[in-house]
Amino acid sequence: MTDDLFTSLTLSETTLPNRVMVSPMCQYSCDDRDGLATDWHFQHLASRAVGGAGVVMTEATAVEPRGRISPEDLGIWSEEHTDALEGSTEFVREQGSVPAIQLAHAGRKAATARPWEGGDPLQPDDGGWETVAPTDEPYPYEEDAPPTRAMTEADLDDVRESFADAARRALDAGFEIAEVHAAHGYLLHEFLSPVTNTREDDYGGDFESRIRFPLEVVEAVREVWPAENPLFVRISATDWLPDRESWTVDQSIRFAERVSEAGVDLLDVSCGGIHPDQQVPSGGPGYQIRYGRRVREGCDAAPEELQIGAVGGITTPEQADSLVRNSRADLAIVGREHLRDPYFTLHAAQKLGREDEVDVPPQYYRANIY
Ligand SMILES: Cc1cc2nc3c(=O)[nH]c(=O)nc-3n(C[C@H](O)[C@H](O)[C@H](O)COP(=O)(O)O)c2cc1C
Repeated sequence: MTDDLFTSLTLSETTLPNRVMVSPMCQYSCDDRDGLATDWHFQHLASRAVGGAGVVMTEATAVEPRGRISPEDLGIWSEEHTDALEGSTEFVREQGSVPAIQLAHAGRKAATARPWEGGDPLQPDDGGWETVAPTDEPYPYEEDAPPTRAMTEADLDDVRESFADAARRALDAGFEIAEVHAAHGYLLHEFLSPVTNTREDDYGGDFESRIRFPLEVVEAVREVWPAENPLFVRISATDWLPDRESWTVDQSIRFAERVSEAGVDLLDVSCGGIHPDQQVPSGGPGYQIRYGRRVREGCDAAPEELQIGAVGGITTPEQADSLVRNSRADLAIVGREHLRDPYFTLHAAQKLGREDEVDVPPQYYRANIY
């Protein structure tokens, strides 16, 4: 029988009730710039779980304070952060969804104002901080970037350990899936891409050296993240910089094989973000879906060993369903459409005639929520 959007998916020993995931989306809503989850984070995650999504993922959650994109980003660098997230994971699970967390470090793209305050880079005396990256070359903003420092071996040790500690805390907080963020021009992507990684030590240069640190981070997380819990990695399949030496789909395919060997269960395939000169083909429907398929087809890992998540411009139930039906992806990852419609999955079930596959909360029965 062909799998579809409402076929459950078992990864390791965790079963997702359907193939819809809420894409990680920054909410820029920590009140005191302390990385602690607030009521806003609870409602963001809780309402999408009520809406029926199989997996509800947090925004990029910083493993250390200097890894936040904006000062108001979520973090998980202390036990207090763990406690602040527990209520959300419990509620998400009670709705039948699987709670997931994206573990992140923004590298040289850290320290920017939140989008509705302009999104500009913040200098240290303006609420920003010194960022860290593979090299000391800052992101080429139109305005002055905050100072960037090339990471020393001690920094690499610290950040690797911060990812592992964050994973341990995420487990204590009740998350069942962890995703390592290695996309969109943030720290781990900065190591992968020759555009940003010009190091001359063991962590820069050829492909093997550039993937070394991201792979070490993935391995460190896998070591503490229990075997029964799925581990995802988000990558940018291409830098979208065809005119210069950059990270390409072929390199993504080779990297996919390596993360699969390291015990990663699902590759969440996004694109871009490393440099403002990127040439995005279009922002239309499913604009980057094909990259997931190319990685799957080129990759030696068996499809059941490394599942593929597709993201970008998925806005309709039919589109999400056909991705799974045609084996272009195993998981439909839906971002902005979930901001427009937190009940995307319930509405999809109705539209696709699969109402029996979802649980409408009894509190809402009388409203005929579909
Ligand atoms: C408000 C907003 C915040 C986002 N924050 C993150 C994030 O924290 N981590 C991440 O990997 N991607 C982030 N993204 C990208 C989305 O996860 C997704 O990949 C992108 O929006 C494309 O999917 P869509 O067309 O379904 O929205 C964000 C996107 C939006 C709109």
